[in-house]
Amino acid sequence: MTDTQIIEETVAFVQETLQRAEGGHDWFHIERVYRNALMIAKDEKVDLLVVSLAALLHDIADAKFHGGDESIGPKMAQDFLTTLEIENTVIQHVVNIILNISYKTSLGPQSSFKSKELEVVQDADRLDAIGAMGIARAFNYGGYKNRELYNPDIPPNLKMTKEEYKNSKAPTLNHFYEKLLLLKDKMNTDTGRILAEKRHRFMLDYLDQLYRECEGNA
Ligand code: ADP
Ligand code: NI
Repeated sequence: MTDTQIIEETVAFVQETLQRAEGGHDWFHIERVYRNALMIAKDEKVDLLVVSLAALLHDIADAKFHGGDESIGPKMAQDFLTTLEIENTVIQHVVNIILNISYKTSLGPQSSFKSKELEVVQDADRLDAIGAMGIARAFNYGGYKNRELYNPDIPPNLKMTKEEYKNSKAPTLNHFYEKLLLLKDKMNTDTGRILAEKRHRFMLDYLDQLYRECEGNA
C-alpha cells in the first residue's frame, strides 16, 4: 500500500466514524488539524506519514464523549491501523501521539514520550482551539453540555487538577482563562507560535467587546 492509499483509507474511516460527532470535534475539525499539521510540518524534520495519521486519528474517540475513558481512542486507532499494511513502529508512534496530545494530559502525571511529530500535531490541534474557530468550538461545546455562557459570580479556576478539569461545569467564558488564553505560550514550533499569537489577539479583542457589551458600554 502506498502512503497516499493509507491516508485515503484513513480519511474514509474517520469521516464514517465521526458522522454524528459534536460540532467542534467533527470531521471538519480533523480536516483543519490535518491541514495545520501539514503546514507546520513544512518547517520541521518529521515523518509525514506519522504526522498525517496522528492528525487524522487524534479525536477518533475523545474521552469527553466516551464517559472519560482515555483508552478507547488509542485502541480504535491501533485496531484500524493494524488492518492496513503499515510498519509496526509507525503504528506505535501514532498511538503514542494520540495518548499524549490532549491538553488535560499536560495537567496530569508527566509522560516520558516526546517526539517532533507529537509537537507538530499538538500545535495543529491547539491552533484550532483558539482564534475565531476556537471561540465557536468552545461555545458549541458549552451548549452541548448545557453550560452557562457567562456568570460573573463564578471565577475561573487556574489551578485545576486533571480530574477537576474533566468534571468542570463552569460557564464557557471561564474556559478562555482556564485553557484557551494559555495556549499561545505552550506552542512547540515556531510556525505554531506565530499563528497562535495572531489568533490569541483576536480572542482578546473579542473578550474586550464582550465585556463592553455586558456593561452596556458598546
Ligand atoms: P483536549 O481534548 O486537548 O484535552 P479539551 O478537552 O480541553 O482539550 O477540549 C478540546 C476542545 O473542546 C476545546 O478547545 C474547546 O473547544 C472544547 N472544550 C473542552 N472543554 C470545554 C469547556 N469546559 N468549555 C468550553 N469548551 C470546552
Ligand atoms: Ni482535536
